[in-house]
Amino acid sequence: MTEHRTLRVALLGAGSVGSQVARLLLAHADDLAERSGARLELAGILVRNPDAPRDAELPRELLTTDAEALILGADIVIELMGGIEPARTHVLAALRSGADVVTGNKALLATHGAEIFEAADQVGASVSYEAAVAAAIPIIRPLRDSLAGDRIVRIFGIVNGSTNFILDSMDREGLAAEDAQRIATELGYLEADPTLDLEGYDAAQKAAILASLAFHTQVSIEDVHRQGIESVTAGMIADARRAGYVIKLLAICERLGGAEGDEISVRVYPALIDRDHPLASVHGGNNAVFVEAEAAGPLMFYGAGAGGAQTASAVLGDVVSAARRHIAGG
Ligand code: HSE
Repeated sequence: MTEHRTLRVALLGAGSVGSQVARLLLAHADDLAERSGARLELAGILVRNPDAPRDAELPRELLTTDAEALILGADIVIELMGGIEPARTHVLAALRSGADVVTGNKALLATHGAEIFEAADQVGASVSYEAAVAAAIPIIRPLRDSLAGDRIVRIFGIVNGSTNFILDSMDREGLAAEDAQRIATELGYLEADPTLDLEGYDAAQKAAILASLAFHTQVSIEDVHRQGIESVTAGMIADARRAGYVIKLLAICERLGGAEGDEISVRVYPALIDRDHPLASVHGGNNAVFVEAEAAGPLMFYGAGAGGAQTASAVLGDVVSAARRHIAGG
């Protein structure tokens, strides 16, 4: 077997995504070493309470409450704590120590993206965040890399899995909103604070991140016009069905005035979608993102938009890329 250099990986957070990342890092260590060219040693997992129950069984000796020591010794820091603080402080500390950062933290990027990317630029470290938008669906890399030579005109679609699950269950199974929300919680779709999903903040954060990448300008959550699904009732859903529509929480990022336009509009709101439109067939916790680019034309990205293992897949892709960069950089 090839001898690989070892890179130390610090994992911050062991919630539904973090515990799956840890499980997969440990279970697939040999495969990940072959693919990345580095042995990814899970140096520790930052948790608030080492005795709390977890979605996956994690080695007790890896759990720590000492963020500083864990971050300082790491080559790659995976931040999956969510929220702004202490995640922001830890990410900045990681970047200042020269570590590459992989994060799924849309709230952090949508509010402090400029500060984080500047800190990374100053030391030549990378910040990767495929998991921050639409979980398992590759959408960040396509916008940042594959479409870097094109001019994006519009992005629109469903970027929140839990509200899609709730609206879909109310529409197709006639579930009450509270029951649908309870199941979405059990499936690990909702944020720790469910109002972030229900009031459209989560989708707005993702829209800000997509718009920033697509239009090469820093769009923050403050720039996003937002309306959630809290006022959507079973009666509205039934009326929409009778009229041939389905209600979906849409995120739209677009250049006003088409490809030549420089003014940008970013908005999130519940919308009536014709039942024949492909977005009407996005069921459960799935997401779908349509991208319209000047030369490429329309593109569609579809798949699991929430869930621990699904989001962990995107995180691990970023970790492998960061490890490859480390190895290439010597
Ligand atoms: N709460 C989020 C959602 C999780 O429902 O889409 C994935 O980002």
